[in-house]
Amino acid sequence: MNDAPIGVFDSGVGGLSILKAIRAHLPNENLLYVADSAYAPYGRLPKDILHKRCTHIAQFFMQQNVKAMVIACNTATALMAEWLRREFDIPIIAMEPAIKPATLATRTGKIGVFATDNTLKSERYKRLLAEYAQDKTVFESSCDGFVEQVESGDLTSVTAFQLVEKYLQPMIDEHIDVLVLGCTHYPFLAPLMRQISAQQATGNQELQIIHTADAVSLQLTRILAENNLLNFKERKSSLYFTSGEPQQASQIFSQLLGQEVTVLPLADS
Ligand code: DGL
Repeated sequence: MNDAPIGVFDSGVGGLSILKAIRAHLPNENLLYVADSAYAPYGRLPKDILHKRCTHIAQFFMQQNVKAMVIACNTATALMAEWLRREFDIPIIAMEPAIKPATLATRTGKIGVFATDNTLKSERYKRLLAEYAQDKTVFESSCDGFVEQVESGDLTSVTAFQLVEKYLQPMIDEHIDVLVLGCTHYPFLAPLMRQISAQQATGNQELQIIHTADAVSLQLTRILAENNLLNFKERKSSLYFTSGEPQQASQIFSQLLGQEVTVLPLADS
């Protein structure tokens, strides 16, 4: 059982930002990654379709005998984590926007949150704000187009820069000093965010960008350890699947992971 794989999934390539951190924290583990790119973005997907997709992916993981599952997607977590935990009897590790760390880090009391529309509208997110951020000013944006931009693999062009600037500049103008990336696609655009905030007038404090890849990897490590599920044998494999077009996915996965990988087709439901 200990060398059984860990299933990691997202609407697309965003969860690779989490997979990279898991790989760094847990180098011996076998990983299965599913990108549901045919249905991305999840950010505005109706809940019944999201329910079907998460069920399909979780069932696929169960057929592959995974020992744990990571929902490397804030949107799927916000809407489906409780249901998945009730339905599937394995440890399930999920994401949430890093509101609490952001409230501890801010000095201006002004925080920006980039997350999908579904996440920002969710009860789970509203509970987080009520619990930790009542005395802070929170600026939110669903950053339409970010997910598609990352899915395209174009992270450096003028178009990508202008898209990020469109959503970040108004928040910088409001003097946020902490930005929460509440969607796993968005860390791939963080270099552009840093570039844009660094260009601001001197005197502005440096913008701190927070996401939860390391926190989730630590939580996964803790849960595997508690359940005696850590793998101490040498790592065998990472396998990658997509519901989208495998050849195109292989190119983008290889680019984002910085190594050549082959992405396999995920059978449809
Ligand atoms: N990467 C996902 C998230 O963390 C989903 C983004 C999307 O597909 O809209 O929310």
